[in-house]
Amino acid sequence: MSIQKDLRLSSILIKWYNDNKRDLPWRDTTDPYIIWISEIILQQTRVDQGYNYFLRFIQRFSSVDVLAKADESEVLKLWQGLGYYSRARNLHAAAKMVTDNYGGVFPYEYKNVLSLKGVGEYTAAAIVSFAYNEPYAVVDGNVYRVLSRIFAIDDPIDSTKGKKVFAGLAQELLDEKHAGLHNQAIMEFGALQCVPVSPDCENCPAASLCLAYAHDKVRLYPVKEGKQKVRNRYFNYLDIRVGDNMLLHKRTGKDIWQNLFELPLIESEKQLTIEELQKENRFKNIFGNSAKVHIKYIVEMKHILSHQIIYASFYKVTVNNIELSNNYIKVKVEEADNYPVSRLVHKYLEKM
Ligand code: ADE
Repeated sequence: MSIQKDLRLSSILIKWYNDNKRDLPWRDTTDPYIIWISEIILQQTRVDQGYNYFLRFIQRFSSVDVLAKADESEVLKLWQGLGYYSRARNLHAAAKMVTDNYGGVFPYEYKNVLSLKGVGEYTAAAIVSFAYNEPYAVVDGNVYRVLSRIFAIDDPIDSTKGKKVFAGLAQELLDEKHAGLHNQAIMEFGALQCVPVSPDCENCPAASLCLAYAHDKVRLYPVKEGKQKVRNRYFNYLDIRVGDNMLLHKRTGKDIWQNLFELPLIESEKQLTIEELQKENRFKNIFGNSAKVHIKYIVEMKHILSHQIIYASFYKVTVNNIELSNNYIKVKVEEADNYPVSRLVHKYLEKM
């Protein structure tokens, strides 16, 4: 005998959704490729910010095949400004997985979708429920907020136990006959009605079910265990001009902005003066025996990422000639912006 699910909340959310949903381009389709792209863009990006990126992305890379065949640099270039660039690298790698392992057909089963690079439980559930109506509940920041309030759940959403509790509850509440609709509805409800700050509970269709509202504790949910610390970093960028050329360098290694290009960089433990910078061995190594080095201080920028604050100083340096060491390339100044760069470097190039 199967246990009857309590679908009261689901039906309130779905009705609210039908009356209030935003008209968004990725909602007019059941194509898993389109849904996948939209979900990856929307992972760490607001809808209004990601909207045009999404349209440009699917226009250029109209299918998983086209994406798989593209150069990673072109994918990163189209992503430029969105941040969290591992999303773009993973999309590209996953597209190759689909062509290599699934004959170019986007996988159907949850576990196969989950195996794609960059696809976690949330994204896999979103894709299979929106595209195929498979009964997997999504749990994202919106869902945490909605459920923690309605059920007054004190388990921190960033704790192991909390994650289990919320995943179980979300699955229990899912209307399996309308999995895609239910998932869209609860997320949209979190995004528009059950908002983080000052939600309009007086006019909320779920108020009569909401324990947090009943106890006047809405602002206390969701509970979080601890905030990740913010790290300060000091980037000294060298805008090295040799005639009408400048130097660029591709970032490698496990760090922010992997595979993006940037100006030659000397990172330091603290803010450096020009004199201190010139004494650095790394500075001397870049210039080798270049005849004449003129260094001129130009501009400082503070760049804030989710867990890092980057204090960047850009120094304009002119030299007669330079011997290129391994990781640097020389490009025409006006062509530098054709390379995929971070938003920080892009801002600097624009200023120049
Ligand atoms: N955020 C994450 N996925 C979304 C979607 N499908 N629609 C709107 N916002 C979202």
